[in-house]
Amino acid sequence: MARFYVTTPIYYVNDAPHIGHAYTTVTADALARWHRLLGDEVKFLTGTDEHGLKVKRSAQSNGLTPLEQADRYSARFRDAWALLDISNDDYIRTTEPRHHQAVRALMQAVYDNGWITLGTYEGRYCVDCEAYYSEADLADGGLCPVHKRPVDLMKEDNYFFRLSAFADRLLEWYEANPAAVTPEPKRNEALGLVRGGLQDISVTRTSLDWGVRVPWDESHVFYVWYDALINYATAAGYGSDGASFLRWWPAVHHLIGKDILRFHCVYWPALCMAAGIDPPSHVAVHGFLLVGGEKMSKTAFNQISPADLVPVFGVDGYRYHFLRDQQFGPDGEFSYEAMVARYNADLANNLGNLLARVSAVVHTKCGGTGPAPRADSALAPLAAEVYEATAQAWARTAPSEALEATWRLVRAANAALEAAEPWKAEPGPEVDAVLGDALEVLRIVAVLASPALTRAPAEIWRRIGLDDDPALSRLPEAAAWGGYPGGLAVEKGAPLFPRLSA
Ligand code: MSP
Repeated sequence: MARFYVTTPIYYVNDAPHIGHAYTTVTADALARWHRLLGDEVKFLTGTDEHGLKVKRSAQSNGLTPLEQADRYSARFRDAWALLDISNDDYIRTTEPRHHQAVRALMQAVYDNGWITLGTYEGRYCVDCEAYYSEADLADGGLCPVHKRPVDLMKEDNYFFRLSAFADRLLEWYEANPAAVTPEPKRNEALGLVRGGLQDISVTRTSLDWGVRVPWDESHVFYVWYDALINYATAAGYGSDGASFLRWWPAVHHLIGKDILRFHCVYWPALCMAAGIDPPSHVAVHGFLLVGGEKMSKTAFNQISPADLVPVFGVDGYRYHFLRDQQFGPDGEFSYEAMVARYNADLANNLGNLLARVSAVVHTKCGGTGPAPRADSALAPLAAEVYEATAQAWARTAPSEALEATWRLVRAANAALEAAEPWKAEPGPEVDAVLGDALEVLRIVAVLASPALTRAPAEIWRRIGLDDDPALSRLPEAAAWGGYPGGLAVEKGAPLFPRLSA
């Protein structure tokens, strides 16, 4: 049985969850759900990143201790994920003892392997990025290139990770694993960073105490990124449950935004190599969701939260929009109008309308009992084609293409109904056949859409007389044409996706 361990970045607890964070989390959730349908053994991890200067300063300005701040914001992320039906199997907080233990064990291994040395670091530090910048990296006026704000001059004794020694091994790894970083432009960006030359990197701090203590020198804490990256190993069981770690590592798929590519595609694989574990098998990198042409941020006052949108679009409408309209990879602009348009087109007018029409006509022409599909239906080969395209797109981490493929079947079923006009015809075998085919499409689409839509698929199945939950189906069997048995009571109900006005 295949194993699929999928992770989101762990989110900083200085910020409230917004649709950018939710984009990564919903995508990871949909992938986890797709792999559960395939019968894979799935582990889905998300959580919060709670140490470091950024969190400490944010706590100070809120009049809280760092832990109080972390408790409060970590709970907000947890609530946001509950609101969006996120099906994570674990939720990691970097302040947990299991994580401290794993960080100390993994970094001790790196130290014991000779990849860590002591030195002095002096440089320009951006607290918002929690990263040092070279003079050349800084924007005009010596500002942080990301936040366009002044950086701090920091000087401290640090332990350094000998990243520079890993350039060749990283290049070999990229060469041997062409799909380790996707999509292609992001892989090229990562390769460019490695080819551009790697400097040793400071991995501890003495200027700060809000972190994981360094086991071989307790006067230091680990630099927040070197603590954070290890969360993926912690949750797999590193340092606490060897059997579990072997089970999930390196079958791990990291989903990240492009802002943290360097950390995940350069520093992290090198650190894994240095610790003597395999690098992750896959990092999937997406672009930013822009609002008004800009990345959402606290300082730009352009944050939109999932809780702003769910009351209008429902959980399904929310998830569908981001998965379908925001292509995984490039940046995308969020637009409320586009969200309404997509909801009306695909959910209200296509899927919702198909269910409404079919159940209405089954009542007027078939006495409320759903007929079986035709084995030789013209929709059968299309269903097979759609399944293949859907499966391939999910395998490529391309949810928008997967849903586009699935909806081809919905549109084809609506078109077949419009062509046959069973509502105008006399009851009989022709009408039964057309409706049976449409019911079968609804059955299949409910399964294929269930990674994206967490609510409507079960309701569709219930209304067409099927008892089980489509999310518990097994693919590919459940997508094979002919599964709707016929003879089931079909229920008419309120519109599944009431139309929204713009
Ligand atoms: N704590 C680090 C990650 C450590 S992972 C070992 C961090 N946290 S963060 O809270 O800033 O969130 C980062 C992630 O949130 C991004 O990589 C991305 O996945 C997601 N997004 C945050 N803003 C986003 C957009 N505007 N658009 C899309 N995704 C964005 O960095």
